[in-house]
Amino acid sequence: MKGIILAGGNGTRLQPLTFVGSKQLAPVYDKPMIYYPLSLLMLAGVRDILIIARPSELPLFRALFGDGRQLGLRVDYAAQDEPRGIADAFRVGADHIRGEECALVLGDNLFHGANLPSLLRRSARRMGGCVLFGHEVSDPWRFGVAEIDTKGRLVSIEEKPRRPRSNLAIPGLYFFDAQVVDIAKDLVPSARGELEITDVLRAYLREGTAELVWLGRGVTWLDTGTHETLLEAGSFVRDVQRRTGTRLACIEETAMYMGYIDPDDCHTLGSEMGNSPYGQYVMERARSFSLGMPPSVLSEEL
Ligand code: G1P
Repeated sequence: MKGIILAGGNGTRLQPLTFVGSKQLAPVYDKPMIYYPLSLLMLAGVRDILIIARPSELPLFRALFGDGRQLGLRVDYAAQDEPRGIADAFRVGADHIRGEECALVLGDNLFHGANLPSLLRRSARRMGGCVLFGHEVSDPWRFGVAEIDTKGRLVSIEEKPRRPRSNLAIPGLYFFDAQVVDIAKDLVPSARGELEITDVLRAYLREGTAELVWLGRGVTWLDTGTHETLLEAGSFVRDVQRRTGTRLACIEETAMYMGYIDPDDCHTLGSEMGNSPYGQYVMERARSFSLGMPPSVLSEEL
């Protein structure tokens, strides 16, 4: 399965923070925002990843991840010259997907929770159309919203409805079969001028192949679309990390636990940042892993 991280957009809601920098590189406590969706894809078992960003910002992402080899990944880059909407990712990324299944994650979405990696891997395995997720929120009008019937079946999907039919928001993580490229080709922009991801999901719903997976209370989903939610996300990460002594979305550690790199490689990556607590943590994890310590909560964490 291929992966796409959409890190485009003008980040207008976060200006002036985003005047000369990518929103998805903004710090969420101790690491750039994009580490969170990247580690999510890695935990889902996805290793061939395309990062889509504004042309002026691509060099920054490239400087951060290179070709991904140090993490046991293959990372490619593609430019989105105009923010044409989320579904544009399947047009820009058509060559990358090339007939395979694909996971799309938005570069500003953070997930954390018990059993999430196994849930992701299960969802990725039982693909026959598309998989979208549902998460209860108090402000569904800010998101794509899923409506379910009394038997829990998905019946409608709407983008930022003024009167939401449920409080089940659709987070920015989706799994699609290879058809998604053709579906995206035929899309027309919505009233707000965007190629909407919810239109893609609706095409699958019409075919009867859209599966909704409910993210229960054990999963926290945070978006970072406003100054307020960005700060909240940072505080959440700090609190969890301080309490547990682990680090969320530590991509070096994730790569080691997933078997993408060995503990020596992980240790080297940590030593390159050895002056920071993050780097020291990476080295410490590599040492305990080579001593045969159990992979701790991290096998089920982000
Ligand atoms: C986008 C999608 C929306 C989804 C949300 C998740 O909205 O259009 O369906 O629920 O991401 O973060 P945006 O935040 O880009 O306005």
